[in-house]
Amino acid sequence: MEINEYRCNSIHNVHSEIFFFERSFFMSKNQSRDEQKFIAEHPKMKKLLEQVEKAAKSRATVYLYGETGTGKEVIAKEIHTLSGCKGKFVAVNCASIPENLVESMLFGHKKGAFTTAFQDQKGKFEEAENGTIFLDEITEIPKAAQPDLLRVTQEKEITPVGSNKVIKVNARIITATNKDLLDEVEKGEFRKDLYYRLNVIRLNIPLLRERKCDLEVLAKLLLEKFAREENKKTMTFSEDAISILMSYEWPGNVRELENVILRAVVMADDDTTTLRKNDLFPERIPDSSPPPIQAVEDSSKSLQEKVNVLEKFEVGKSLSKHKWVKVRVCKELDITRPRLDRLIKKHKF
Ligand SMILES: Nc1ncnc2c1ncn2[C@@H]1O[C@H](COP(=O)(O)OP(=O)(O)OP(=O)(O)O)[C@@H](O)[C@H]1O
Ligand SMILES: [Mg+2]
Repeated sequence: MEINEYRCNSIHNVHSEIFFFERSFFMSKNQSRDEQKFIAEHPKMKKLLEQVEKAAKSRATVYLYGETGTGKEVIAKEIHTLSGCKGKFVAVNCASIPENLVESMLFGHKKGAFTTAFQDQKGKFEEAENGTIFLDEITEIPKAAQPDLLRVTQEKEITPVGSNKVIKVNARIITATNKDLLDEVEKGEFRKDLYYRLNVIRLNIPLLRERKCDLEVLAKLLLEKFAREENKKTMTFSEDAISILMSYEWPGNVRELENVILRAVVMADDDTTTLRKNDLFPERIPDSSPPPIQAVEDSSKSLQEKVNVLEKFEVGKSLSKHKWVKVRVCKELDITRPRLDRLIKKHKF
């Protein structure tokens, strides 16, 4: 079965083999030791952690690229922690700052600089002095603020809004995005010179579906953790649940996995000890059948049977990838809506 191909060396002994990245991932003073597990069993993740350690030793700008929910923020925090710098880790979500406030938010302002500036206010760069400023969703930063950002990366200086005083700043910059910055440069949305300044060390965070061994370990740990937190009995996954977990595409990556398992645990009856496929995906059940290679190669099957297996596999895969947004599924498979509805009925999705 395909799952086996993805399994790292020895998934059987899951608990003894978990890579406990014990130094600082998930550690906050109020967290218990149980919650400090950063799962990085897959070779791609181990490689990433090596890169994280190297990057942490320098003050160079880091650009984290990964789909939503892959762990960009935890990686950014880890670089900050491992760097041992004295200042704070300051996170800014560039997508949530109103365009007219972005400069004041990042660089601060003087009293009276605008109508609601009742007092001098430091910006995020000063707040992150001797620490790290994490600019999340960097592609969403308004164009008007890009020249000033370029200036900080080049000259390490800022000028608060309404002031003519230049302030020297020393904050390590980490940026993150789930869009490729270079695409944004090509579209003219992002300055090329700024792109080169930010893209000194680029770290790509692998998708959850590309690291199935991490997925299985994570799912089991999350189930244990949520069952404990929700005061439920110790739970395990049924075989069909494991199979669906492994074949689903996880477009929302680790965050989506957390949500699916937490929801299933919360909704489970108090005496439930086994979570099944339908507990995880009660409304839309993505295709759980293994890849159709064996079925297609099975010489005892007729051509029509083989076609059916492939058809079911492809439609199921597309439905889960697009979270049942049928218009996208139709586009991807190049079929009409009535045909998709017939296929959903035929294959009992
Ligand atoms: N390797 C991992 N092991 C355990 N938990 C993880 C791992 N990676 C991510 N998580 C958890 O997944 C959730 C999402 O992580 P995080 O917020 O860092 O992702 P993100 O890439 O910044 O997402 P977004 O693009 O949506 O902002 C968090 O709860 C985080 O603790
Ligand atoms: Mg994030």
